[in-house]
Amino acid sequence: MVSPWTIGIIGGSGLYAIEGLEDAQWISVESPWGKPSDEILCGRIGDVRVRFLPRHGRGHPISPGELNARANIDALKRAGCTDILAVSAVGSLREEIEPGRFAVAEQFIDMTRGRPSTFYGSGFVTHVSMADPVCERLSGMAAKAIAAAKGKVATGATYVAIEGPQFSTRAESHMFRELGADIIGMTAMPEAKLAREAELPYALIGMVTDYDCWREGDAVDVTQVVTQMQQNSQLARDMLVRFIKALPAKREASPIDTALDDSVITAPDRHD
Ligand code: ADE
Repeated sequence: MVSPWTIGIIGGSGLYAIEGLEDAQWISVESPWGKPSDEILCGRIGDVRVRFLPRHGRGHPISPGELNARANIDALKRAGCTDILAVSAVGSLREEIEPGRFAVAEQFIDMTRGRPSTFYGSGFVTHVSMADPVCERLSGMAAKAIAAAKGKVATGATYVAIEGPQFSTRAESHMFRELGADIIGMTAMPEAKLAREAELPYALIGMVTDYDCWREGDAVDVTQVVTQMQQNSQLARDMLVRFIKALPAKREASPIDTALDDSVITAPDRHD
């Protein structure tokens, strides 16, 4: 029996493939929004179709601000994805979310600047709800998979997305804590917004690599991020496989599948 799930996985820095993928093949997917970060690794785990996209491209040639998130989300949609699980390296803004832990995002604060962040415009006026930006069902299953892989998990995290590529100043890091952010990264926005516009349920797992720079004397550097990612990448791969294997045989419809139904207020053929 073919599973009703086709899971898109967006792999962050250090996660360039996943294990145990049967009939795996890198496939080039064209998008009218330009070039996705890479080809998509298509295959299956058991009955579930899997579509894996390395967010920064294999070998990490693409910087966060240069990502074509519209092409990435559109390519995953064209590749048949029903849902997206994104993985991303993040810094921690809370003592109790220590490096090595996996933080499941529940909210986002978007501090990115000038990144193309909608599929709409040019005659289509759309205001989709982002009040609850992640899919609770996927996030819950992701948290369970992390625990099953013996990873340490934090749920309900608020992720602040910065423009980068520089890390934050100490003043910014303190400000983000004051704003209520728990984790910090450079890539989940506008990715999560675009997934919602594409009516794709989306969840994000932050792999915590550092404490950013809000703690006295601490300052994040790339070596720290890469070393921690390497230490956790096996666990992340294990978690992904467990997540896919634990998907239920039936996929109940999600309200996100039809998120645009009440959102498009002007379509070109509707100008009166
Ligand atoms: N990715 C990993 N650690 C980060 C940090 N401290 N700030 C922004 N992005 C990150």
